[in-house]
Amino acid sequence: MCGIVGFVGTENAKERIVDGLKRLEYRGYDSAGIALPIDGKIQIRKHVGEITNLEKIIADDSFDAPVGIGHTRWATHGAPSDINAHPHGNQDDSIAIVHNGIIENYQEIREWLAREYGVQFKSETDSEVIAHLIGIYYDGDLLSAVNKAVEDMRGAYAVCAIAAAEPDKIVAVRKDAPLVAGIGRGCNFIASDIPALLKYVREVYLIENNETVVLTKDDITIYNDRGQKVKRDVFHVNWDADAAEKEGYDHFMIKEIHEQPKGIQETLMRRVDEEGNINLDGIAMTKEDIEGFNKVYIVACGTAYHAGLVGKSLIEKLAKIPVEVDVASEFRYRDPFVDENTLFIAISQSGETLDTLAALREAKAKGARILSVVNVVGSSVARESDDVFYTWAGPEIAVASTKAYTTQLICMYLIALYMGRTKGILSQGEYDRILNELKALPEKVEEILAKEEQLAFLAKKFHHKEHVFFIGRGLDCGVSYEGSLKLKEISYIHSFAIAAGELKHGTIALMDPDSLVVALATQDDLYEKMVSNIVEVTARGARVIGMAKEGRVEIEQVADEAVYIPSCADEVTPVLTVIPLQIFAYYVAKERGCNIDKPKNLAKSVTVE
Ligand code: F6R
Repeated sequence: MCGIVGFVGTENAKERIVDGLKRLEYRGYDSAGIALPIDGKIQIRKHVGEITNLEKIIADDSFDAPVGIGHTRWATHGAPSDINAHPHGNQDDSIAIVHNGIIENYQEIREWLAREYGVQFKSETDSEVIAHLIGIYYDGDLLSAVNKAVEDMRGAYAVCAIAAAEPDKIVAVRKDAPLVAGIGRGCNFIASDIPALLKYVREVYLIENNETVVLTKDDITIYNDRGQKVKRDVFHVNWDADAAEKEGYDHFMIKEIHEQPKGIQETLMRRVDEEGNINLDGIAMTKEDIEGFNKVYIVACGTAYHAGLVGKSLIEKLAKIPVEVDVASEFRYRDPFVDENTLFIAISQSGETLDTLAALREAKAKGARILSVVNVVGSSVARESDDVFYTWAGPEIAVASTKAYTTQLICMYLIALYMGRTKGILSQGEYDRILNELKALPEKVEEILAKEEQLAFLAKKFHHKEHVFFIGRGLDCGVSYEGSLKLKEISYIHSFAIAAGELKHGTIALMDPDSLVVALATQDDLYEKMVSNIVEVTARGARVIGMAKEGRVEIEQVADEAVYIPSCADEVTPVLTVIPLQIFAYYVAKERGCNIDKPKNLAKSVTVE
């Protein structure tokens, strides 16, 4: 996904910008570029491919300045290429911009600029129109030119602009795409994401929607959309830049898999006091609110959606409220039944996923109460929600989500338990029983992590398979979707998840000796049915890795391989069952020599539709 870094100081903008862009590499990108005002002109250099390609073409000492903007691009309009890379300049390169997001009416603007001003476009991007708009409105004041340009633009954007005639400032503006200003000493920064700035600053201003910000080396001024100055509290970033390093692991993904006991513990600790009460500090939802909800919608994308599938079972079982789970890109366009008695739960690691954000706004407009489960503090989803239930996973760098998922699950348990107890549906005994099971999870996850070698062995044995099926029933069904997604996204193996009972309605036709089936059989009351499903697929020649609770040794008689999770209550199995699936996916991808932390075609944060 695109990344923005800008710097205003007294020297060496190039070094700071390149460093910031490198810290955003994990988001995925296909080209990178930088623009600096040098000797009354703006010089733009950009290159397709990795940042190292850019570094080669900006190595000369004469290419540097006290101010500059940089960008990593993830193609949306126009293929990855040098020309389509950002920054983009206007006709005479007296203005340059970088842009994250999408300008929906760019075709219209392009035609108008060509017709009225004879603009000749260099790239195929939607973003280039922004540079030309600012260029035609510019009369010596970059701020007012940016404000005028924004009036013509429809869509989502975080834009940073520089002007050759004002080489001491950056003007930035945002709508539906993140932007953060870093407060330095005698210098200031602007970026799309906090990690880009952490080497240099810890104090930042979070820029809100429709705000414009002017940065000089001594000052950061924020304006609202009426042009009034806005006072913003300083946000202190207390997470450590080291947390973004691999700490001796080969990949961020496996490091993050190992961080799960800590993430789970932390997420529990933040909300459960010593007496075992769930505290909703900072959440305004009252008992009356909870009693008034007659429906819950859980909406998210990808892995976060899979956490929602588990959340549905939990809320329905523990709080007895009907729950619908939907992928955000479907929810937002299908005019869902939402009103003021609906609780809308958005789940998002990044808090910037465009579809999730749009779905949230749709629900909000219809009067729903918005509760979000988010990992990135201060993100757009968090800011636009009525209440936020943070996951405490810490920054997740690998594109494939692991620790965000397990901490999202913990939040779903806590929300369901709280609602069930508040409504008086869940007895104290049941509440205590499940809470104690949750508290035991970090240790049980450690036990599974200690079996890493067994999973690496299974990966060696099965990594050549081209089709893998994940099956399960009840809570195992939702987890099988996540296991399948993990495998396909990092190993590029075709994988497919299905409710085990659905197999015989079609999918079983695909079973043959080349198939691998990962069968999750951790639910006590569904165990025998799962054993029957395993027998059905082995009868067609499929190889099976069966997963069950410790002690369920019968699975060894029907499956080729057995993986055990520590014994626990059925309700909490998803947090444990997913761990071997994550590790298996990781080692399969490793065996196949894949780029595990940055799988092809994927980005960490999907801020476009
Ligand atoms: C898969 C993965 C994605 C994300 C999805 C939503 O490993 O990471 O499927 O879960 O793009 O992202 P967030 O949670 O940031 O809204």
